[in-house]
Amino acid sequence: MPNKINSMMLGTGTAVPEKTLTNFDLEKMVDTSDQWIQERTGIQVRHVVDDKIQNSDLCAEAANKALAESGLSAADVDTIIVATVTGDVTFPSTACYVQDKIGAINATAFDIQAACSGFIFGLDIADSLIGLGKGKNVLVIGCEVLTRIVDWEDRSTCVLFGDAAGAAVLVPADNSGRGVLATFTKTDGRLAHLLCMPGGGTKYPADVAIAENLNNIKMKGPEVFKAAVKAMGDAATHILENAGVTADDIDLLIPHQANKRIIDATAKKMKLPAEKVYINLQNYGNTSAASIPVALTEAKEKGLVKAGDLVVMVAFGGGFTWGSAAIRL
Ligand code: UT7
Repeated sequence: MPNKINSMMLGTGTAVPEKTLTNFDLEKMVDTSDQWIQERTGIQVRHVVDDKIQNSDLCAEAANKALAESGLSAADVDTIIVATVTGDVTFPSTACYVQDKIGAINATAFDIQAACSGFIFGLDIADSLIGLGKGKNVLVIGCEVLTRIVDWEDRSTCVLFGDAAGAAVLVPADNSGRGVLATFTKTDGRLAHLLCMPGGGTKYPADVAIAENLNNIKMKGPEVFKAAVKAMGDAATHILENAGVTADDIDLLIPHQANKRIIDATAKKMKLPAEKVYINLQNYGNTSAASIPVALTEAKEKGLVKAGDLVVMVAFGGGFTWGSAAIRL
């Protein structure tokens, strides 16, 4: 018996800063090389926000585009969920700034934090709210300004990350069979220390964080890599089961864009051919919560997926968090 379909995705949109930072630019900043970065990660370029731009500005741009594609106005939105680890300020939520910037006066807005899995976690919440009848027009936004929390002297992390936003509008499903077929989320807090920004909260307030160089991303790369391969595979297996589909049914896999080698391992586990796996990390680096909605929007714009196609999204991030979603577009 197929799952009840609660919600469908009406529109998506992105915001990508114009300014770019290439591997060759990074060669002038730290002891690295274009060859190392490409071979170990697949990344060539990442985008960097201008000084005056905040996370909520990128969110608002992506949200407005997603609303335009959906044919809805900001006043129609009843819920705004922003997934981010790089909000404008510690509080209030970035989602409240977005509410103001897009004029979504009738909405309830809040942030969630699930690092690179944030968009999937947001989608899961949106789908549940709509299923419960508590939400009707829900904006889910994944946005990061990671270049502001990177240690530009740490070559093991500063070459990896970029800035971007991606947004999606979820509404109640019609009876066409389109919509969110299933979602899956999981966390393991025992491994939180392997990928985090320790400073800036109440444990190490800003002054302590600055004095002790804790106000930036800390990552044990190889440990995270191993966990990511395992968790992405786990998320892929669960979503096929939950959605009642097989890998053969998938039209396009949209994995979190952290490292090409992690994506390749996930595709191999799912026995998916390269043409069914969307990869754009060469042009963005790791944009954490933004990576999946940016990739999905791009794939739609390129005509790689269309209404009715089965898209599976799989993510992994700090926390650790991991998750997946199967959507018939
Ligand atoms: O978004 C979700 C969470 N994030 C991830 O999923 C990221 C997971 N981790 C990774 O993608 C990889 O671990 C990295 C790309 C971060 C690193 O790749 P690696 O193959 O695991 O490299 P490594 O950390 O084991 O380092 C290998 C060598 C080391 O040198 P020695 O000790 O062998 O002499 C590093 O010091 O590469 C060196 N290295 C670099 N060399 C040039 C580390 N970073 C760089 C660099 N340029 N940028």
